Amino acid sequence: MARILITSALPYINGIKHLGNLVGSQLPADLYARYMRARGHEVLFLCATDEHGTPAELAAAKAGEPVAEYCARMWGVQKDLADGFGLSFDHYGRSSSPENHALTQHFAGKLFEAGLIDEVSEKQVYSNADGRFLPDRYIEGTCPNCGYERARGDQCENCTKQLDPTDLIDPRSAISGSTDLEVRETKHLYLRQSQLKQRLSEWISSKEPTGHGYFDDASEQGNETPPAPPPLPPWPILTTSIARKWLNDGDGLQDRGITRDLDWGVPVRRGKEDWPGMEDKVFYVWFDAPIEYIACAAEWARGRPDSEWERWWRTDKGASDVRYVQFMGKDNVPFHTLSFPATIIGSREPWKLVDYIKSFNYLNYDGGQFSTSQGRGIFMDAALEILPADYWRWWLLSHAPENSDSEFTWENFQASVNKDLADVLGNFVSRVTKFCLSKFGEAVPAGGDWGAEEEALIARLQKGLAAYEAQLDAMEVRKSATELRALWVAGNEYLQAAAPWSVFKEDPDRAAAQIRLALNLIRVYAVLSAPFIPDAAAKMLAAMNTLDTDWPGDMRAALTALPAGHGFSVPDVLFQKITDDEREAWQTRFSGG
Ligand code: MF3
Ligand code: ZN
Repeated sequence: MARILITSALPYINGIKHLGNLVGSQLPADLYARYMRARGHEVLFLCATDEHGTPAELAAAKAGEPVAEYCARMWGVQKDLADGFGLSFDHYGRSSSPENHALTQHFAGKLFEAGLIDEVSEKQVYSNADGRFLPDRYIEGTCPNCGYERARGDQCENCTKQLDPTDLIDPRSAISGSTDLEVRETKHLYLRQSQLKQRLSEWISSKEPTGHGYFDDASEQGNETPPAPPPLPPWPILTTSIARKWLNDGDGLQDRGITRDLDWGVPVRRGKEDWPGMEDKVFYVWFDAPIEYIACAAEWARGRPDSEWERWWRTDKGASDVRYVQFMGKDNVPFHTLSFPATIIGSREPWKLVDYIKSFNYLNYDGGQFSTSQGRGIFMDAALEILPADYWRWWLLSHAPENSDSEFTWENFQASVNKDLADVLGNFVSRVTKFCLSKFGEAVPAGGDWGAEEEALIARLQKGLAAYEAQLDAMEVRKSATELRALWVAGNEYLQAAAPWSVFKEDPDRAAAQIRLALNLIRVYAVLSAPFIPDAAAKMLAAMNTLDTDWPGDMRAALTALPAGHGFSVPDVLFQKITDDEREAWQTRFSGG
């Protein structure tokens, strides 16, 4: 059994995520986690809320809540939505956890010891009334470019010009409105990432198609039962091209500031010691957030020995045979290919580095972009109000923006649900179970033998299964969906050609053999489809009255798992079709503005 560590990018705490966010990280990560578990591997699947930074502080202020309370509440909201979508995290953590505080401070201490942290003196705006330094976006004033009166110190929202706080006319504190501001000297910490450029570049090379590092992982050990998953392919071009661009285009590996003047965050310490001059500062959110991937495992193991989580993360404590896969949207790639690895490598401690980064393009919404601020598009809460999770999971995964951006349209959604889920899969299940009930009763019928048609179907399914597994192993999300659909279609075509409803009149035994196979195929479909549509799969298994969720190796054997006489029941309709009226009403409701 191989061990697979899977993380999805940690969603920001502020606000509910839209379906574009979901399909760019958490949902495909769940597909992979469910598949790997189904294949018998030991999986640790982690996610958490990313809680620090200015956006969290601002959102809490807007909600009129203390930031800690706001984050605790929003964590609950996001956790419930994750559960609603069937995201099977082993732990849903929080980057504000004590574990992450300790680990973030630990890493800072190690980086400091390694000589990779510089203390840099800077001039920064201090607000006497607020008694604190103000981050750029906490300073407001008049834009020197367009005259807009509420421009922020980092950018003018009106004319989009990038600004420095000192450019603003009549600057004031966005917190108190006070104009009693002055420029003071203050110290910040910079991580000397540029020192690690060579190491990072070599590491990225090893993951490129011409590289040699990508098969150097757990899968080479072989010989376990069940067999280890096949070697990982090279990283997606989307991942390596972004990493290369940042490495080579200069900007990417500049030393970066890792401290901020905020109240909410991980206080700056080196290990357990105070850091002189850093008393009122916290670490920058992008420094502590990825460390939460590690801390999340520690949260998961709370109350148990440290060795339990360290075997997933410390290569000196068993993690060298872990396969670690991350899922994220393309905007997150630089942080995961360069910054976080710089933290890990720079610490000079034996932490596990990621083995594979699966990244995604963007999902657009009905001729434009999803927009959180305009409420345009479908958000996770609203999606579950109108339809069950499986409908969304199927559409999103089968249209995942892998090779380019993709687009959600209501027409396409309606067509996919009605065809793939209702007409192909749902219809198969309902026809087979209802026909059996009416002619043979609610048990797998005995009698008859398989003939050439059944042999041909088995051969087709066996081949299709291998193709499906290959795509899932390679994390090709869309192609996996295509292969799964092809398996459903194979069963339908068989049923259509075999026509047990006609055969029954002349040769009931032959019809019984056909239906026995078809009922067994429902169980097989449940097992194979569960990574995509777990709720429907559970209903299919319940209807087949079985707990046997073994992944089919040999199709012939799998299709005899339910013997003659095994009772079943006719399930409720698995998937309702979406009507034109519903489609139009939803299209209007979610158009935003
Ligand atoms: N919160 C970030 C986003 O939604 C992702 C953080 S991922 C981590 O874009 F690496 F920081 F954890
Ligand atoms: Zn302006």
